[in-house]
Amino acid sequence: MSLMKIEDCVSPLEYEEVSVGNAHLYLYEPGYFKLRHNNDVWMGHDTHNHWQCAEFLMELNLAYGRCITTGIGLGMIQTYLLRNPNVSEVIVYEKNQDVIDLFKIIANKNNLDISALQFVKKDADEMSGEDVDCIFLDHWDSHIWEFLSERIRKIANNNNCKILWYWPAVLHYSRWCKKHQNLPINLKTYQDWVKYINVRNFPNHLSEENLENIKMLEKKYAEDSVKHIMQEYKSYQERDVLRNKMLTKYKN
Ligand SMILES: C[S@@+](CC[C@H](N)C(=O)[O-])C[C@H]1O[C@@H](n2cnc3c(N)ncnc32)[C@H](O)[C@@H]1O
Repeated sequence: MSLMKIEDCVSPLEYEEVSVGNAHLYLYEPGYFKLRHNNDVWMGHDTHNHWQCAEFLMELNLAYGRCITTGIGLGMIQTYLLRNPNVSEVIVYEKNQDVIDLFKIIANKNNLDISALQFVKKDADEMSGEDVDCIFLDHWDSHIWEFLSERIRKIANNNNCKILWYWPAVLHYSRWCKKHQNLPINLKTYQDWVKYINVRNFPNHLSEENLENIKMLEKKYAEDSVKHIMQEYKSYQERDVLRNKMLTKYKN
């Protein structure tokens, strides 16, 4: 069976504004949803390009058998896994009850049967003694490897699985390549990076198709960082204009 490609990654659910307790799914700007719980913004959904969904491309293609995921968020990865005939069980570690309840409302509005989705209401960092085929981690408050590495290794060491993948592994691999004289994405550099991250059960081999998908994701990450830099630049410019206006007013 051929693998999913980046363009196949369309959010499996329709979203709308919903609040449950301290969890809020709201329109941040037209076509762009954000999920907030207390002061943490956990997830976005850009309906124009479905990018957040595409970021799970590797997990979606690697998944089989019994899968543990961490963090329900908008339930994108979990919905895809529930629909995957190669996946027999979907378990999610989620610590925030309001977020679980919010997702249940969204699932209901989409007529999605989630009776097969097993919620474990616990801190995913404390997960231990599990024995499954796949573990997919995505409950982070940071995307920086240095902040995540010990948490990822701890979960990997305390549980058994055939495959462990984490968000945002593709971003970390691509940044690592850039940092090392712009190394190309290929099996050799991938395996060197896997050695570097040293995470138990992280796949040491990827098919050519999977590596192609990484190249496509890398391109999107590069475009995204240019967009972010431009946005930052624009906000600095706006701030300077405002500051100059205030200084002129003050001097007069
Ligand atoms: C980025 S979202 C997950 C998105 C999800 N993968 C999807 O496909 O929509 C992160 C989620 O992790 C949850 N979370 C944060 N810290 C956690 C922890 N320590 N243990 C369990 N869940 C946690 C948040 O409440 C949030 O629902």
